[in-house]
Amino acid sequence: MFIGELEEWCGRPDCDVLETVDRGDECWTGNVGVVTTLFPKVDVDPKNTFAITVGPPVMYKFVVAECKKKDLPDEQILLSLERRMKCGVGKCGHCQINGVYVCQEGPVFTYAQIKELEEAI
Ligand code: FES
Repeated sequence: MFIGELEEWCGRPDCDVLETVDRGDECWTGNVGVVTTLFPKVDVDPKNTFAITVGPPVMYKFVVAECKKKDLPDEQILLSLERRMKCGVGKCGHCQINGVYVCQEGPVFTYAQIKELEEAI
């Protein structure tokens, strides 16, 4: 996925691309490990940095913890909560998290918006 975009980003002087896989194979020569293994390799200015997080929900609390170690403000940590959606139009309630309809109000939220929302991450 996004092979063209990755090649473009890798060629940009203002962009560093770090990739990892959970389990490598004989073809993979890059980093092996969960995404949080990349955080120590990244030096960021928290004033000019946003974290955009898309992936399995189990990953989010670990990513948020690493972002906070880098002093990212809660408003600059973006999380996609597309989980559990069915109708996508606010009718079935399947996506609801304590009164918040992810399909209507998200699916992308800042950490500031959901950190007090139980079961969100
Ligand atoms: S997915 Fe049905 S209400 Fe949100």
